[in-house]
Amino acid sequence: MTVALITGASMGLGEEFARQLAARKMDLVLTARSEDKLRALAAELSRAHGIKTHVLACDLSCEGAPQQILDFLTGNNLRVSWLINNAGFGVIGPLEEMDARRVREMISLNVSALVELTQLLLPQLRQADDARIINVASTAAFQPIPQFNVYAATKVFVLHFSEALSEELKGSRIRVLCLCPGPTPTQFHVAAGIDARLFNQGQTAQQVVRMGIRGSDRGRTVIVCQRVWTNLLIRLTPRIIVRKVAGIIGKFMVNQSRKK
Ligand SMILES: NC(=O)c1ccc[n+]([C@@H]2O[C@H](COP(=O)([O-])OP(=O)(O)OC[C@H]3O[C@@H](n4cnc5c(N)ncnc54)[C@H](OP(=O)(O)O)[C@@H]3O)[C@@H](O)[C@H]2O)c1
Repeated sequence: MTVALITGASMGLGEEFARQLAARKMDLVLTARSEDKLRALAAELSRAHGIKTHVLACDLSCEGAPQQILDFLTGNNLRVSWLINNAGFGVIGPLEEMDARRVREMISLNVSALVELTQLLLPQLRQADDARIINVASTAAFQPIPQFNVYAATKVFVLHFSEALSEELKGSRIRVLCLCPGPTPTQFHVAAGIDARLFNQGQTAQQVVRMGIRGSDRGRTVIVCQRVWTNLLIRLTPRIIVRKVAGIIGKFMVNQSRKK
C-alpha cells in the first residue's frame, strides 16, 4: 500500500487531498491541530474506501513538530511515499500592524516546517518505487504583494525550494511538484482576515487538488492555477509596475475586508 502524509488535512485543500488520495486507495496519515475533524475525516475515508488512516494532531509551527511526525511514523511502522506539504496560512495588512507572534508562526509553518519535514522524510521517500512531494505554494509566489507581504514571501520561498529540490532529485524516483493555487474557497480567508467574497470567483478545492495530483502524475514541477495569460503578463511586465499593481490590489483587499 502507498502511504500519503498530508499536513493541514483537517479542512480545505488538505481535506480534499485526503479525499482524492483515499479514492486512489492510498493509506493516509493526516495531521493538523484539530484532532476531532481529523478523526471524523479518517473514519469516514476508512469506511468509504477500505483504507488505513492514521491521525496525529500537532501544531506544525512549534519547534520539534516535524520530528514528532517522524517519531509517530516510526512508532507505527509506517513508511511514507507521498508527502503533501499543504498546511499554511496568511495574514493581510501592513507589516507594522501585524502581531509579531503570528508573523513568526506563519514563517515557521509555511517555510521552516515544510523544509524540515521534507528533509526528515527524504530517506524513506527514497525507498519508495513511486515517491511524490507536493508542496502547496500560491499564485502569491509570483510577485511581491504589499499588504500580503510576509505571506507572499513565504510562498516564493516554497516555489524556489521546490523547483531546486526537483532538480536535485532528478534521476531519483522522487517527483517534486509545487502547486500554486489562486484564490480558492476554503477557510483560508478566516485566518487571513480577508473578506470571503474575494475567494468565491476562482477554482474549487476539488479542481485545484485534481490539477495538483494530475500534474504530479505527469511529472510536472510547477502547476499554476491561474490563466496562462495572467501568469505570462506578471512575468513579462517590469517589476516596478508589477509591485505597484499588486499594491493597489493589496490595498483593495484590506479595505474590502475591513468594511465587513
Ligand atoms: N485557499 C486559498 O485561496 C489558497 C490560495 C493559495 C494557496 N493556498 C495555500 O493552500 C494551503 C491550504 O490552505 P487552505 O486554503 O486549505 O486553508 P484552510 O482551509 O484554512 O486550511 C488550512 C489547513 O492548515 C492547518 N493548519 C493551520 N495552522 C496550522 C498549524 N499551526 N499546524 C498544523 N496545521 C495547521 C489547518 O488545520 P488546523 O486549524 O486544524 O490546524 C487546516 O487543515 C495553504 O498552504 C495555503 O497557503 C490557499
